[in-house]
Amino acid sequence: MNIPWMTQARNCEAMRRLRDAGDLILPSLLQCDFGNLEREINELREAGVEALHLDVMDGHFVPNITYGMPIVEGIRRLTDMPIDVHLMISEPSRYVRQFADAGADCLTIHVEIDEDVRETLEMIRNLGVGVGLALNPKTPLERAKSLLHLCDLLLIMSVEAGFGGQSFNPIALEKLKAARQESDALLLEVDGGVNLDTIADCHAAGAQLFVVGSAIFGQSDYRNAVRSLRQAIQ
Ligand code: DX5
Ligand code: ZN
Repeated sequence: MNIPWMTQARNCEAMRRLRDAGDLILPSLLQCDFGNLEREINELREAGVEALHLDVMDGHFVPNITYGMPIVEGIRRLTDMPIDVHLMISEPSRYVRQFADAGADCLTIHVEIDEDVRETLEMIRNLGVGVGLALNPKTPLERAKSLLHLCDLLLIMSVEAGFGGQSFNPIALEKLKAARQESDALLLEVDGGVNLDTIADCHAAGAQLFVVGSAIFGQSDYRNAVRSLRQAIQ
């Protein structure tokens, strides 16, 4: 399972699926029922979901703690959907290999971390998984510009990383537009407060991957929630 070429082969396929899918809704599993992950994943699949977003928080980089490699590995065994892992942790370079081995298809680190971002992005690239870089709302795009050529995906946070259920910050829209000007090739992802009121603006600003927590898990019917979100960007 840990043989690098196998990781690479799996990832090429997963990243191709993310790129080719066009606009995609990625449920953030932060607010799902962890007592019944298998049912949750099945319900999401039945709702037409094609990829998952997992939020890893360490209680240090952000003031909240979620989960780590065992949950990624458990979800990997439940689905072959691409797994997009958002690392809100300090010193991600210490853990990226373990997350890749656990089955992550794309690893996103924050530009605000207190270590050499370029080196960690290169480390992720060498693991054969997709490379993502995230920016919090207060961080200007300029801080990431010289690193974009190392990335497959740019994650524009529309809330301060750390908690689900926060309100959308429209500063993300300007950043998405500016990022699209910088690169056609980059996958643009938006995360935080994405719901029926905000998703169309994110789409118009250039986002292709829409991370959604509350607007799915706060609804009793995932199928309706996903369908309505899709309709809003058609
Ligand atoms: C916040 C996380 C998000 C969060 C989104 O730090 O990165 O993925 O779960 O949740 P909502 O959609 O509720 O803002
Ligand atoms: Zn996230």
